[in-house]
Amino acid sequence: MTNKYMYFVANWKMFGDFKSLKLVNKVISFSKKFKSSKFKIIYLPPTTLICPMAQMVKNTKIEVGAQNCHHQDNYGAETGSVNAKMVRGVGAKYVILGHSENRENGESDKLINQKIKTALKNKLKVIFCIGEKIKDKRNKKTKSVLSKQIKLGLKGVKLNNNIIIAYEPVWAIGSGMIPKSNELFNAIDFIKSRFKQNLKILYGGSVNDKNINELKTIHNIDGFLVGGASQNSKKFIDIIKKTYN
Ligand code: PGA
Repeated sequence: MTNKYMYFVANWKMFGDFKSLKLVNKVISFSKKFKSSKFKIIYLPPTTLICPMAQMVKNTKIEVGAQNCHHQDNYGAETGSVNAKMVRGVGAKYVILGHSENRENGESDKLINQKIKTALKNKLKVIFCIGEKIKDKRNKKTKSVLSKQIKLGLKGVKLNNNIIIAYEPVWAIGSGMIPKSNELFNAIDFIKSRFKQNLKILYGGSVNDKNINELKTIHNIDGFLVGGASQNSKKFIDIIKKTYN
């Protein structure tokens, strides 16, 4: 049973259409009734659903964010892109940056750093993802990978509560595997030790309604970034409920 203020972030990735908005309605109803008030829910829908979802969650405990944004602050000839101003303009309050799926698609630490700065300038809060690959873990490079991603990604960034870190071991994303509790505790502890400020650190990677019972016992985690299981409102609600039971 936790008594801590926790974040629950639903990352829908490239899933979801108009019909999926019904799932959010269920979570809104749940959030109004739930006994604890010490939590925040953030939905990260695909860009196409930011606007309708932001309308739905007005006056609720739920907020909406974007899954990426362009590094450029101004408008421009960038076919297929949206910038921070544009997502902010339709109701996004957050943006997730540095996700390993985008790093895999070629986003460098430098580009991620530019995006973070542009997002903050446009008053978006940033969920900054970091995490080691399986080969880094096997080579005992987890700490050096995390340090490098933090150093380069946040270079020149004024840190305050506008940055939330999401620790997502790449090998845990979508694989059904999660780190051992002591390894996860140590990784979160290490990340916290990199900052003078008291930043929120979330865990992401195969979080579901079963393993949450184990994950919630790791007391230095400030919340969960949920991918696959967040597309099922019952599972997502169960994750929240079980965290507090
Ligand atoms: P997963 O995704 O919960 O499906 O592993 C997490 C994420 O990539 O944010």
